[in-house]
Amino acid sequence: MNKIDYLRLSLIDKCNFRCQYCMPEEAQLKYILHQDLLTNEEIITLLKKVFIPLGFTKFRLTGGEPLLRPGLEDLVRDIANLPETEDLGMTTNGFLLTKMAQSLYNAGLRRINISLDSLNPQTFDWIIGNGNPSRWQQTWQGILTAYEVGFDPLKLNVVIIPGVNDGEILDLAALTIERNWHIRFIEFMPIGNGELFTEKAWIPSEEIRQQIRSKWGLVTSNVTGNGPADVFQIPDAKGTLGFISQMSECFCDRCNRVRLSADGWLRPCLLNEEGQIDLKTALRQGVDGEILKTQVQKLLELKPEINFKQRDAGTDTGFYSRTMSQIGG
Ligand code: GTP
Ligand code: 5AD
Ligand code: SF4
Repeated sequence: MNKIDYLRLSLIDKCNFRCQYCMPEEAQLKYILHQDLLTNEEIITLLKKVFIPLGFTKFRLTGGEPLLRPGLEDLVRDIANLPETEDLGMTTNGFLLTKMAQSLYNAGLRRINISLDSLNPQTFDWIIGNGNPSRWQQTWQGILTAYEVGFDPLKLNVVIIPGVNDGEILDLAALTIERNWHIRFIEFMPIGNGELFTEKAWIPSEEIRQQIRSKWGLVTSNVTGNGPADVFQIPDAKGTLGFISQMSECFCDRCNRVRLSADGWLRPCLLNEEGQIDLKTALRQGVDGEILKTQVQKLLELKPEINFKQRDAGTDTGFYSRTMSQIGG
């Protein structure tokens, strides 16, 4: 059985973007009420009493958009200061990073993954939907600021949507040649926006690799993360190219993570809600930490059975009604 030691903590389900593949403008989402969000104190209590004693050492802060969470720096500081924390990362859309990157770094965050689906401002605005144009520039500035502040590794996540941004694969890959940046191409999954998925579908990572290989060559890299990416490199490039291939390849059998939603539900699998536990209600009812720990341990033991079974991958276009913003990517 895999060691399950990586907890993804969704801090808020709201987002300042409306990415077409995640939470498109017309989607009617029911947001978590403020009083139902786990507080910083409750998160730390759960880490100390439940997750750390069970062997968790890697934590990733996600959303929605985690930079919208009030009190974020305090939470980062508290998690970074736990002696058991070996790795603390964040996944963000980067829009607010210009003003927040330095304070997050000061609070102890060192690793950051930022979504950047296009280098073309118009395409970018279309993908992220809703609102003012010219948000590419501010996002790009956020990425540059994170780089200057010293976040390392700095990873950029790209969801490839056929006919929208697949013409930019080489331009995006080229960013890794001169900079120590890590671009990850993510296969579009049937979650969040079923209509767009049905219309556009997805491109297998191997096709993307083939394009890059024909232009520059491609070698495997020894730089890896904690996640499901397969990592390669353009020969002599400073950065790497990761491929997250949940549609074309099975990585569920090496899954090392569980997810805690912003309202305190512990979910064993991104794509299967079976077995989830309402830790917030239990905590607020005063259930003892030892009891919670036993419940979570049982869930971890059951996880291999609960994990999404890849029998459906590739051919399954069954649509998952929750969005990544609600589950925490
Ligand atoms: P590191 O490798 O440690 O940097 O983290 P990561 O790649 O796990 O984190 P990130 O939040 O950047 O994840 C990138 C994308 O991978 C997510 O947005 C999802 O599309 C996908 N992903 C992450 N975890 C899972 C998972 O458990 N199952 C599936 N199917 N996809 C996942
Ligand atoms: N398919 C693949 N990845 C998705 N994300 C959100 N929705 C999808 C989807 N339908 C991922 C993107 C983004 C992160 C927050 O969630 O990688 O960077
Ligand atoms: Fe886009 Fe991430 Fe916000 Fe979803 S949560 S709309 S993927 S920025």
